Amino acid sequence: MRSRRLDRRTVVLTGASSGIGAEAARKLSALGATVCLVARREDELASVAADIRRAGGDAYTYAVDLTDAAQADALVAQLLAEHPRIDVLVNNAARSIRRPITESVDRVHDYQRTMAINYLAAVRLTLGLVPRFLEQGHGHVVISSSLSTQLPIPLFSAYLASKAALESFTRSLSAELGGQGISTTTVHFPMVRTEMSGGTHIYQAMPMLSADKAADWLVRAVVDRPTRVTSLQGAVSEIAMAAVPGVLTAGMRPLFRQMDAMLDRKVRRSRQ
Ligand SMILES: NC(=O)c1ccc[n+]([C@@H]2O[C@H](COP(=O)([O-])OP(=O)(O)OC[C@H]3O[C@@H](n4cnc5c(N)ncnc54)[C@H](OP(=O)(O)O)[C@@H]3O)[C@@H](O)[C@H]2O)c1
Repeated sequence: MRSRRLDRRTVVLTGASSGIGAEAARKLSALGATVCLVARREDELASVAADIRRAGGDAYTYAVDLTDAAQADALVAQLLAEHPRIDVLVNNAARSIRRPITESVDRVHDYQRTMAINYLAAVRLTLGLVPRFLEQGHGHVVISSSLSTQLPIPLFSAYLASKAALESFTRSLSAELGGQGISTTTVHFPMVRTEMSGGTHIYQAMPMLSADKAADWLVRAVVDRPTRVTSLQGAVSEIAMAAVPGVLTAGMRPLFRQMDAMLDRKVRRSRQ
């Protein structure tokens, strides 16, 4: 049999029960990786693993609530015991909250909930695997982040703050341990049609990347190990934010209001 690009690699992938993670699990396995699928919903994980095994791949499932410290620590112990070599960790599990700051004044728990899964759970898992990565002399950490950390976007303060924190942790990981074989990739996804984006009704009318196409971004991250995967729009926004942050922030505000109003009109029309 012809050798494939991820043969003999073991990839731990969180958020593998749906959306981008589930699609990426199938694609990484098709390239030869052994995939360790992590999320809470056992049946969904089992279904992704069954697809992979039917196609001749190797998949292990771990039904774990990553915000539960005891469950997350037990997961790390189990991964280390079951897999003599772990090459890649993809921190992809997350939750999103779309809410104006004015409606969040008595909802600090929104910020705690997003930090718990999007930031702290990813940090805990990464810290659990770092000793193994150092022992092996290699390890690659990928994080699923957003185009919206590259741009000043309203309404997602809890979600985006947690993603920005994870990006910063990942940058530190690279800065500190890059010389010891640890590499990192931040993936800045644009909007993707999944359960997550489906929570906001007006987004039905928004053109989005499919989960299948978005999974290709994660595959590119794992195979090529670039420092980041971004859209052109994201890269240009970062340059504009560095050069003229005030102008860009002020310019985006009315743009977003207009976009939301237009999407709302489109959804209403489609229901008539
Ligand atoms: N969709 C978009 O427009 C978009 C845009 C930019 C970035 N992203 C990022 O892309 C990644 C994948 O999101 P998606 O769009 O594919 O959404 P999704 O289908 O909702 O996937 C989220 C995944 O996270 C898992 N998860 C959530 N809470 C968990 C917990 N406490 N413990 C363990 N697993 C947990 C979910 O599994 P269980 O419910 O089974 O636990 C699910 O597998 C996320 O990091 C997201 O922030 C998405």
